[in-house]
Amino acid sequence: MQTHIQKGPHSQLLHQLRSSLLSLCSDSHLICIYNFFQVDRFLHKMRLNDEQLNDISARFQAEMKKGLSAESNAAAAVKMLPTHVRSTPDGTEKGQFLALDLGGSKFKVLQIKVREDQGIRKGGVEIEEKTYPIPNEVLNGRGTELFDHVSESLKDFMHEKNINPKKKHPLAFTFSFPCEQPTLDQGFLLEWTKDFSVRGLQGKDVVDSLRQAIKRTGGMDMEILAMVNDTVATMMTCGFDDKNCEVGVIIGSGTNACYMEQLNHVDLVEGDEGQMCVSTEWGALGDDGTLDDYITEFDREVDACSINPGKQIFEKMVSGMYLGELVRLVVLKMAKLGLLFDGRVTNALRTKGTITTAHVAAMEEEILESLNLSPSADDCIAVQHISTIVSFRSSNLVAAGLAAILTRIQKNRNTRELRITIGVDGTVYKTHPQYPKRLHKVVRRLLPECHVRFVLSESGSSKGAALVSAVAQRLASRKRQVRTLNSFKLSWEQLQLVKARMRAALQAGLKTDGPSEVKMLPSFVYRTPDGSEHGKYLALDLGGTNFRAMLVNFKKGLQQNTKLYHKIYKIPLEIMQGTGEELFDYLAQCVGDFLDYMGMKNTRLPAGFTFSFPCEQTALDTATLLSWTKGFKATNCEGHDVVDMLREAIKRRDEFDLDIVALVNDTVGTLMSCAYEDPQCQVALIAGTGSNVCYMEEDLRDGDEKKMCINTEWGGLGDDGTLDDIMTSDDTEVDQNSINPGKQRFEKLTSGMYLGEIVRRVLLNLTIRGLLFKGYVSEALKTPGIFETKYLSQIESDRLALLQVRSILQHMGLEGTCVDIITVKEVCGAISRRAAQLCGAGMAAVVDKIRENRGLDRLNITVGVDGTLYKLHPHFSRILQETTRALAPQCDVTFLPSEEGSGKGAALIAALTRDP
Ligand code: BG6
Ligand code: GLC
Ligand code: GLC
Repeated sequence: MQTHIQKGPHSQLLHQLRSSLLSLCSDSHLICIYNFFQVDRFLHKMRLNDEQLNDISARFQAEMKKGLSAESNAAAAVKMLPTHVRSTPDGTEKGQFLALDLGGSKFKVLQIKVREDQGIRKGGVEIEEKTYPIPNEVLNGRGTELFDHVSESLKDFMHEKNINPKKKHPLAFTFSFPCEQPTLDQGFLLEWTKDFSVRGLQGKDVVDSLRQAIKRTGGMDMEILAMVNDTVATMMTCGFDDKNCEVGVIIGSGTNACYMEQLNHVDLVEGDEGQMCVSTEWGALGDDGTLDDYITEFDREVDACSINPGKQIFEKMVSGMYLGELVRLVVLKMAKLGLLFDGRVTNALRTKGTITTAHVAAMEEEILESLNLSPSADDCIAVQHISTIVSFRSSNLVAAGLAAILTRIQKNRNTRELRITIGVDGTVYKTHPQYPKRLHKVVRRLLPECHVRFVLSESGSSKGAALVSAVAQRLASRKRQVRTLNSFKLSWEQLQLVKARMRAALQAGLKTDGPSEVKMLPSFVYRTPDGSEHGKYLALDLGGTNFRAMLVNFKKGLQQNTKLYHKIYKIPLEIMQGTGEELFDYLAQCVGDFLDYMGMKNTRLPAGFTFSFPCEQTALDTATLLSWTKGFKATNCEGHDVVDMLREAIKRRDEFDLDIVALVNDTVGTLMSCAYEDPQCQVALIAGTGSNVCYMEEDLRDGDEKKMCINTEWGGLGDDGTLDDIMTSDDTEVDQNSINPGKQRFEKLTSGMYLGEIVRRVLLNLTIRGLLFKGYVSEALKTPGIFETKYLSQIESDRLALLQVRSILQHMGLEGTCVDIITVKEVCGAISRRAAQLCGAGMAAVVDKIRENRGLDRLNITVGVDGTLYKLHPHFSRILQETTRALAPQCDVTFLPSEEGSGKGAALIAALTRDP
């Protein structure tokens, strides 16, 4: 034995010690003690006490800070790579994914199904996988060869599992190497680690390389949604079962850890809110010398013989790729010193890689024998002890690293008591029998105040990668939805343009004789009421889905004491769209009923008739219907005097008599009714089934009175194409499928009759594109008109919880997931917002015109408003007002909701005719 000893003073001493021990006693226990002692002495530098571990932890903390900061990142050894994963799983992830897992000791292709509405947590996940060996020449070949191998394996897997190659498949990619990720689906390889040294990929986007390879292989259609590091994927896998899992660690061929960091600490990514997972790449700790005082001659040798000398220093002390090698070098050295195997050194022992991590984990006699070392019992014990020290150092170092990460999280959260779960994977952790226990114990000892739970990722990292992809897929489809919704967003410039166009159209309508898109119809109402009106009047109101008959009793100077009696009659669709005679006969019948009800059939009352359609008037009581709008299309009315038609119907009925003294548009009625309360009221807006405005105009043509209320019929703006640039394809479809295509374009963008229909169209198109309702086009969704304004108002109400919105949708026959519901809400919001803004832009044009008519710098004015959209919608009125104010900054506009509707206004006009 002595003959083989290289006699340094150290080994001599040991040898002497051994001999003296043996001469004292032949007890085998003592031999063991002697061997232990010898090995311990030999490897004392590898035995780290808690003080040293805390010191390493502190050094790592400083390195993490350096890596996170934008200034020092470039020089930092620990790269702290942002991963663009912003949240741990929340249980809503689902879908079917193909996955690639490249970078661990095995390359795998997988298919992962997370079943609809079950979630992984409920066991609704199925994984099928196949391992494909990577030939050595590929590992050390060119990048294109590696990815060709990867993509051919993928194709083979699809073939084997009968996966339809014609369909587009979402793909999740676990790539366990340091990558700079500008986005979730890009990864620029910084450096190869472990045993990969493939040429031509460093600095390249590996996702793109994979994409190219898939294209080269052909016959597959893949959408690579996300590339994730194995640590991140592990955290996500474990995070699905344990909400506290915010750290992921791999102790496998390589080693690395990731954790959820506060986004405002991640300098390299914009944004301050929330968290982002950072892959620390802690394997590189020490690459700048930080760990030099802990490094042994064996570590130096392992590093020098690796494919990346000087790099991944921490990893080389910790991970499976190197542990076996460390043990071999120690054993070799000790044998050479004659401290083992009687000084025998075999070729096998001299050969790199002959002791593996698996051997370290289960250091047994056989391996030593297979190395032709014919070990004695105490050799075996000694080598076992070496293995223990090397693997113990590994778990200690990982514990120090984790202590650093947990301390950081603890500081971020500003708490002493941290409850956290660490997801772990990797062959060392999984196969070394003592490793997990030792690691857990030391972490808990270093951080006694933390409640740390360790969870082994049973199903590898691909499940987590699929989860990340599921979120990415959801985000991608959301992005496409958002893109659709963007076309409903109006810029400030567009709104100003709409205002200018409205302004020009108002002017043109006033000044030209011929047809114009905004008709500017004279109402023959010359003034607003002044409170002197008195007497009993009948008011009739036709224009929405209901017909109202009303008796109003005005008391002079006592606006508050006005008495009102009314009855509402629904107008059946067949009447709305039957013949004119039928319609007016029906109205006469309703009036007869009302007079009966009031017991006034024999009094000949003066009546005002609110008729909410565009009429050419030559006097207050003559009105030729120009065209039906909204849902009406009774025949033989357009071009006829509707006052006459009503008079004739009453005559035909021959039950009662009426003195119809005025026909007014609903806007005009509203103006009168509101001006009765507030003399500043000079404009009225209807935002209901239809959309229209009237106002007191002073800039009239020669020969006319000084002032007259003009019914703008602004709903016609755009009928000559002026709004084409803001109309979306959904708007055009709604217009084309209406009963008056090409007409009332502005109204179709702004009023209750159409908003729901636009919403339905958008939802239908999103569904057809597979972005909603799982792509299932239900009968309900195909039904025009299901989306009434009232639903729009309910859905957009901030007071309703998602579940309530869901039940409203169910009521309409639309079944959706939470995400669907959020989308529906957003679609409604986008469309009603645009409507309110357009009305605001139009209103700004009107009030500015009045201001300029009067030559004022500032105008104080009240706008009377009526209509279900204005009154019931939760946001319409606010957005309308904001837009009007912003676009007409020189006007102080007050919006006054009309109390009694326009019927009262019609009665007031009737009263005005009596009280000139
Ligand atoms: C596996 C993951 O479970 O663990 C791999 O799916 C990862 O992506 C690996 O790289 C790490 O362990 P090892 O020991 O195979 O490197
Ligand atoms: C290496 C890689 C790292 C990976 C780790 C575990 O350290 O650089 O990205 O997470 O191995 O596989
Ligand atoms: C339609 C009618 C118009 C009416 C408006 C509001 O636009 O054409 O006359 O004022 O609806 O009801």
